[in-house]
Amino acid sequence: MSAPLLEVRDLHKSYQLKGRPALEILHGIDLQLPAGECRPICGRSGAGKSTLLHILGGLENPDRGEILWKGESTRGWDRSRWAIWRRKAVGFVFQSYHLIPELTVEENIRLPAMLAGVPLEESWEDLLDEVGMTLRRDHLPAELSGGEQQRVAVARALVLEPELILADEPTGNLDGASASAVLDLLVKMVRQRQKSLLLVTHDETVAGRVGTPLRIADGRLAGNRS
Ligand SMILES: Nc1ncnc2c1ncn2[C@@H]1O[C@H](COP(=O)(O)OP(=O)(O)OP(=O)(O)O)[C@@H](O)[C@H]1O
Ligand SMILES: [Mg+2]
Repeated sequence: MSAPLLEVRDLHKSYQLKGRPALEILHGIDLQLPAGECRPICGRSGAGKSTLLHILGGLENPDRGEILWKGESTRGWDRSRWAIWRRKAVGFVFQSYHLIPELTVEENIRLPAMLAGVPLEESWEDLLDEVGMTLRRDHLPAELSGGEQQRVAVARALVLEPELILADEPTGNLDGASASAVLDLLVKMVRQRQKSLLLVTHDETVAGRVGTPLRIADGRLAGNRS
């Protein structure tokens, strides 16, 4: 059997704040994400969901534990190796969209390619179309609704065809109908492209629409394996 796309073994993380006892956030997280799978992770506010995603995205270091990418340990990876991996292999979607305010819709979507110095196939315009923003391609983020901004962020996350999408409360700033539409679009686009998705949320309903949730509580991850 081939190795999972992403595997986490016994991950620990605590924060040491001056003059206070260490705050233990993650205490032995184990996780396997097969290629092509969408997996929601649910947990209350402060449970450590964002911390976990930051560590998995190489944005923060764990205290101990191991992360494997396609069976390869990332233990010896330095910052530049992580940066190369992030650029090629991962797309991020954040709660607050994180679009560049001075860039148009089109420029925001094309930005990862520009930063990576790779030419984009014409097919990036299909992405623009799929997220329903073709007519707004010259607009700035401030001229868009929250749902529209998040659709642009979804297109941007997928533009370099990364194998993994990490989404942190991607519908947390959106209300009812808009949240559902963005979530359905994200999951549909990830599935169609046979990518993998890890989505963290405090909202059980959101998690249930993505797949069988894992739950993070007391620093550990529990849930049914599908
Ligand atoms: N850099 C930091 N220094 C100190 N404590 C931190 C730091 N980052 C996060 N924490 C603490 O770690 C805990 C987990 O934070 P985290 O942001 O991962 O939670 P979360 O599950 O994403 O919550 P939410 O649903 O509110 O986004 C919180 O108690 C938070 O205060
Ligand atoms: Mg969070």
